[in-house]
Amino acid sequence: MATMTPPVSTAITASLLPVYKRAPMEFVSGEGVELIDAEGKRYLDFTSGIAVNALGYGDPGLQHALHQAADGLLHVSNLFRTAPGEQLADKLVQLSFADRVFFSNSGAEANEGAFKIARRWARGIGGPAKHEIIAFRGAFHGRLFGTLAATDRPNYRMPFRPLAGGISIMERALEDLDLALNAETVAAVILEPIQGEGGVRVLEKTFVQRVRELTKARQIALIFDEIQCGLGRTGTVFAYEGLGVSPDIMTLAKPLAGGLPMGAILVTEQVASAMQPGDHGTTFGGGPFVAAVANHVVDRVTDPAMLAHVRARGAQLRAGLEAIGERTGRVRAVRGLGLMMGIDVTEPAAEVISRARDLGLLLVSAGEHTIRFLPPLVISEADVARGLSLLEQALSA
Ligand SMILES: Cc1ncc(COP(=O)(O)O)c(C=O)c1O
Repeated sequence: MATMTPPVSTAITASLLPVYKRAPMEFVSGEGVELIDAEGKRYLDFTSGIAVNALGYGDPGLQHALHQAADGLLHVSNLFRTAPGEQLADKLVQLSFADRVFFSNSGAEANEGAFKIARRWARGIGGPAKHEIIAFRGAFHGRLFGTLAATDRPNYRMPFRPLAGGISIMERALEDLDLALNAETVAAVILEPIQGEGGVRVLEKTFVQRVRELTKARQIALIFDEIQCGLGRTGTVFAYEGLGVSPDIMTLAKPLAGGLPMGAILVTEQVASAMQPGDHGTTFGGGPFVAAVANHVVDRVTDPAMLAHVRARGAQLRAGLEAIGERTGRVRAVRGLGLMMGIDVTEPAAEVISRARDLGLLLVSAGEHTIRFLPPLVISEADVARGLSLLEQALSA
């Protein structure tokens, strides 16, 4: 089933704030794992709206959930109870380490909320001195003042200083952890089990385990940012399942409501118990419309058959990328897990991405020389093979 085609407009407006380097084509509809532009050209989408569209385009189940949700309440605010958000919170608790859930409207907002929760809890243990938040080299946690301070991109940060205080970035070095994670001053450590924007870097299991060991011993909250790598993307419900440790707080967003804006903060009872009525809030968070759609998405992407499919397609993608690297000599490294893969290429990633786009394949970078592969989780074996073949043509051109 294709998504509805709105009226075609080909004019490029000057009315938008020019903060995005957008590709020139205008998309008007989508079908399965393809997007269709105003001229009718089809593109195989290996970006999924940056890890959002896990079910692809025009998915009948998602369309049905959306239509049903649209027939119900859209919004009542958090002054009142509504069932979809309560059901979704129960579901996320059952699927994870967590006992409590707070809903936000984006990934950055979820991380900002996580910082607040961690600080509130740590203050109860160590007073105001225990407030520092530590992120790691290569991290991306968002573009708001707190999350930007935890995001390792100098050009995103510099024009906006001063950023939120008490938040800093350290090396991903095992030997530095003991000194850096000071029990008196550090409230929280935040990490992506697989860094997305930072180059598709799978953090070492031993490194994350040591972070967990030290944070537990020193009463420091450990936050996992699974905004990009969570909810089925790596072939397990959450990426942390492969690490043998769980966090105190975890943030989700991107695929959660199938393309509608929604984030979530998942928290253990121990840490959540520090939060009192009035400590945090948002007008739209967890509203009945988005939450109803998210209930459908979460059921779908956590289905064991879907997770097995992601693992199989991920293995196919990895093997294909390695083979292309060997045949073309234009790939320096292949990294990732499940359907979150990256390659380092020998020329600027933007040039390969542009040639791939001309050939009808959509890709996204993760740094100057890294190309990221984030296809919809529902992608077929034939479409993975087709994407690999288009990539090889783009690399060889
Ligand atoms: C790991 C991670 N955290 C946080 C964010 C920020 O999410 P949002 O763009 O919804 O604010 C992103 C977005 O790319 C992300 O990949």
